[in-house]
Amino acid sequence: MCGIVGYAGTSSAVADHGALDVLIEGLRRLEYRGYDSAGVAVVADGAIHARKKAGKLVNLENEIAQEPLPESMTGIGHTRWATHGGPSDGNAHPHLADGGKLAMIHNGIIENFAGIKAELLADGVEFLSETDTEVAAALLGKVYAEADGDLTRAMQLAVQRLEGAFTLLAVHQDHPGVVVAARRNSPLVLGLGDGENFLGSDVSGFIDFTRRAVELGQDQIVTITPDSHSITDFDGNPAEGKEFTVDWDAASAEKGGFPSFMEKEIFDQPAAVADTLLGRADAEGRLTLDELRIEPEKLAKITKIVVLACGTSAYAGSVAKYAIESWCRIPVEVELSHEFRYREPIVDKNTLIVSISQSGETMDTLMAVRYAKEQGAKTLSICNTNGSTIPRESDAVLYTHAGPEIAVASTKAFLAQITATYLLGLYLAQLRGNLFSGQIKDILADLAKIPAKIQDILDRSGEIKDLARSMAESKSVLFLGRHVGYPVAMEGALKLKEIAYIHAEGFAAGELKHGPIALIEEGQPVFVVVPSPRGRDSLHSKVVSNIQEVRARGAKTLVIAENGDSAVKDYSEWVFYVPETPTLLMPLLATVPLQIFACELATAKGYDVDQPRNLAKSVTVE
Ligand code: G6P
Repeated sequence: MCGIVGYAGTSSAVADHGALDVLIEGLRRLEYRGYDSAGVAVVADGAIHARKKAGKLVNLENEIAQEPLPESMTGIGHTRWATHGGPSDGNAHPHLADGGKLAMIHNGIIENFAGIKAELLADGVEFLSETDTEVAAALLGKVYAEADGDLTRAMQLAVQRLEGAFTLLAVHQDHPGVVVAARRNSPLVLGLGDGENFLGSDVSGFIDFTRRAVELGQDQIVTITPDSHSITDFDGNPAEGKEFTVDWDAASAEKGGFPSFMEKEIFDQPAAVADTLLGRADAEGRLTLDELRIEPEKLAKITKIVVLACGTSAYAGSVAKYAIESWCRIPVEVELSHEFRYREPIVDKNTLIVSISQSGETMDTLMAVRYAKEQGAKTLSICNTNGSTIPRESDAVLYTHAGPEIAVASTKAFLAQITATYLLGLYLAQLRGNLFSGQIKDILADLAKIPAKIQDILDRSGEIKDLARSMAESKSVLFLGRHVGYPVAMEGALKLKEIAYIHAEGFAAGELKHGPIALIEEGQPVFVVVPSPRGRDSLHSKVVSNIQEVRARGAKTLVIAENGDSAVKDYSEWVFYVPETPTLLMPLLATVPLQIFACELATAKGYDVDQPRNLAKSVTVE
């Protein structure tokens, strides 16, 4: 997830700003989408002039102050959240091509970049970065000649060859006053001004300059000049956008109109899961985890996996245990990073340490990884922040592609982490021959359906919000779950503690009679995450019995169950149904209503859900 802005204006139309002012202002507003590097390119005097710098936008501003750009009314700007290639000056966008004649910026992941890169290398093209974007830029440079110098036509030819998700913006030295953009599965909005036009990842990219915006469809190309815009599909057929007026203030525009980053991030989850899945399997359904730098032969010899993490990430690890043990038949231990190091754990060269960390900077997890490395273990990092310390120090990395998470309480990173652990489990099963290729393909197909199922839950969030508001005065809420529903219950309780400051506990439903049931008194709210009635064993009926047990003692039972599960109805005060999915994948759905519940309840209490008291997003001290 990166931030993108484009501008084409005329100095006579708008005297008080040039392209650079628009780009920097837009990037400032879009920095929530990525902040590991930033860059701009402007067209002036028949040439492209670019500046880019790793780190926050201020680094780019300092760079430009030292080496000023010429006055220009056409340009593109980018703020990056790294996917292909770590955060560095070289990997920052824009990327230049065709001898510096054109510049390109990109948000998304181009799945087939490796094949195109090989072809371009054979043509003699030289690459300066590790990014998929530079490949797309070079491709555009190549087809520009075939398009007889028509930049829009060249973009059509280029995108016809690309697979994956992308928003691309390009400028060319021979076309001052023109920005061409293409969009597939990544966001792009057009802004209409008076004698100037804008492009942005979202309206916050240009909200300081215009409130007239145009929503673009999938697989569309848009070309802007100061006083025109044209939209086509990828074949060049004319297409229409939908104009609307932005009525948000600038602060809520950054949050996509949501009252908080946390709520926005909950609603980002279909994309977070889809993007994490993107580009990880070939057309035959074989997983190709290119970032896994541990040789397959060594991975095949692994006898034990130890997952290390803290907080929400540790619950993602607990979900991973169920999936990886089931698919790979390798024992998986899950341990809080800060406990691991101090108990002389038994790890050796055949142990695979899987650390899970959104930030990649959590000190306890970093220390635990270092300790495990010293013991000779192989270390693999599942991380959301490209180039952060834990992946840098690990033998291998599997990045989640949730984009930056701003709210302190983790939501979309959690779902992306679970998704990544599934990919890892399937990859190991493929490598070790624990599952047939058809089975892996089927699970990948089920995973591919998850984003739409999350969207279905989000579309019905009103039911959950009503419940949350009615429970704003609760003093304690309990959560029960079993099997993969157990970590979901723990995560549901953690969310409520973190942002609503309500006493909340998650329990394994089977443990109920060994203690927790003594807490039940009249009116005690208890969420129960119910396994699928289609699942194996008698898990479903056991959990339904647990609902009856707590209800008989006065609990207010709030149930998350699978569509069509009529057995829970009679024992529940409130039921929320989630779409059907295989049991092991269920956490990707059942967690979402609990996140919405906590967020809405805390909001109803008037708390700042993005920055809860006493908590930090990244805990970099032990
Ligand atoms: C802090 C955050 C949590 C997060 C945990 C682990 O406690 O507030 O939201 O789950 O750290 O962070 P990590 O970046 O390692 O996933």
